[in-house]
Amino acid sequence: MGEKQAQLDQLKKEIKNDKTLPLFGEANLVFGEGDVNTKIMFIGEAPGFYEDQQMRPFVGQAGKLLDELLVSIKLPREFVYITNIVKRRPPQNRDPLSEEIAAYKPYLKKQIQIIQPQVIATLGRFSMNYFLPTAKISQDHGKLFHLKTIYIYPLYHPAAALRSTMVLDALKKDFNKLPLVLKKAQA
Ligand code: URA
Repeated sequence: MGEKQAQLDQLKKEIKNDKTLPLFGEANLVFGEGDVNTKIMFIGEAPGFYEDQQMRPFVGQAGKLLDELLVSIKLPREFVYITNIVKRRPPQNRDPLSEEIAAYKPYLKKQIQIIQPQVIATLGRFSMNYFLPTAKISQDHGKLFHLKTIYIYPLYHPAAALRSTMVLDALKKDFNKLPLVLKKAQA
């Protein structure tokens, strides 16, 4: 096993046993998965019903769309790393609370430090605002932001794209720009 995978396994153990975390004991841990040597991480909001059941990120309807979008740019799911800012499902899929986001923050930070992606594609406004607190999803999706040593590429949440063809069109367009974004990040 590689060094990064070993560090992530250790981190997963720590988060699993951290009883101080909100939603501990109420929902399963959905830590994240994918290629630990990837150049790009996708970060969503929080697990939903199916993610909680399967303990894997983005495996419901939104995940199916994400998979299709990834395949459409020849970057299948197994080539990227996918996780969420909050790693347990909030009850009834409600929006994550700011204290939940804050509580899980040290773990996400560590996860990013271990993987060291060049680009983080955020899915939805919660994840975008985690990195870019003043950004507005309607204005800033599909724009590339340089944050210290990393690029942040805000995308609409695929669940929002399932509810609106306008959002779906925008999301497809932004996905089509991803190969160029990755090239730029590596330059
Ligand atoms: N929505 C998210 O934000 N994350 C998931 O893992 C699934 C749906």
